[in-house]
Amino acid sequence: MISMDEIKERVILVAVDTDGSDQAERSLDELGELAKTAGAEVVGRMIQPRENIHPGTYIGKGKILELKELLWETHGTGIICDDELTSVQMGNLEAELDCKIMDRTLLILDIFAARAVSGEGKIQVELAQLKYRASRLAGLGKSLSRLGGGIGTRGPGEKKLETDRRLIRTRISALKQELSQVEKHRELIRSSRARGNMKTAAIVGYTNAGKSTLFNRLTRGEVYAADQLFATLDPTARRCFVDENTEVVLSDTVGFIRGLPHQLIEAFKSTLDEAAQADLLLHVVDSSSPAREEQIAEVNKVLKEIGADKVSQLMVYNKIDKESNDPFLTFDDKGRPKAVALSAVTGAGIDLLRQAIAKIANTEEEPEEEDDEDWLKEFEP
Ligand code: GTP
Repeated sequence: MISMDEIKERVILVAVDTDGSDQAERSLDELGELAKTAGAEVVGRMIQPRENIHPGTYIGKGKILELKELLWETHGTGIICDDELTSVQMGNLEAELDCKIMDRTLLILDIFAARAVSGEGKIQVELAQLKYRASRLAGLGKSLSRLGGGIGTRGPGEKKLETDRRLIRTRISALKQELSQVEKHRELIRSSRARGNMKTAAIVGYTNAGKSTLFNRLTRGEVYAADQLFATLDPTARRCFVDENTEVVLSDTVGFIRGLPHQLIEAFKSTLDEAAQADLLLHVVDSSSPAREEQIAEVNKVLKEIGADKVSQLMVYNKIDKESNDPFLTFDDKGRPKAVALSAVTGAGIDLLRQAIAKIANTEEEPEEEDDEDWLKEFEP
């Protein structure tokens, strides 16, 4: 008997280009990488320049016909749209195209499900997946509730996802309870760390920027680093010495990406809190990527969403070996380290990073300057 899970999806990637830049192309390249990571084969792609995304069908009528033909020619089994679809768009596309309809969110959730390692990570991902499903099952035909395997049907740990709405609700509340227990435990660990008075630095950055490689380089640990999107899902925290006298707690966090599903941000809140509660963020950037500016902006957007935008950042421009650039360290006008360029793989510039972290860790936080007017207000009758 053939297991349905082993059937490779043959997918066509679809995007709407609303601003006429090459951003849609690049985003679709990334979607292709995500599709491959999820085990699908990309057999075609299509971009429609449009002022706005079509509210009912994502792309326009003419393009749907073209897509139908392309599916037929390539023996495609499904499409993946580069934005999150509403259940109405999904339902309409499915009725028109009679194939599996997926979106960026579903794909990312699927990859997260395959990568989650710790108990907490698994609970968080399953919760996010079920929330996504619960809001879409009504009115949906084959795409989410059909039998068979493939993208969107896998839960964490190779488990099949629940398809019954009532059971989904029960499962969601059970998972929420489990998660709150785990969060309490995490909070305990965090507060005992705070009592130890040790500074904490969290590594954040776009997926594949080299966070795990850098974490390993700094802590000589064995965190899984692979040329795959989202190789790391569970944050790992370790103590490490950055100079003879300065020890900090360093944590690696989940990779960010354009369109990181809000269900995931919500589910990973406690994990991402690691970043929001840190004294310093090491914002790792793949300096060899042509999309690095967009990636920095995406990461900052997510940081804002999780309330970590007030934490001070040290920019870490990684992978300088790819363009044979020299390492450097720059400071802001107050003499505080601002950016480091290095290679986590060759180790060039790592000493500069250690130096910078030590300097920041040993600088007393300046108390916030009080606003004169606020100060006066207290005395107002
Ligand atoms: P996610 O888990 O997806 O968030 O990725 P990550 O940011 O943790 O990246 P990871 O450390 O897994 O590295 C991704 C890929 O980039 C791996 O193939 C690394 O070997 C490679 N890489 C990391 N740092 C460097 C570097 O300094 N130079 C070069 N050439 N490659 C690097």
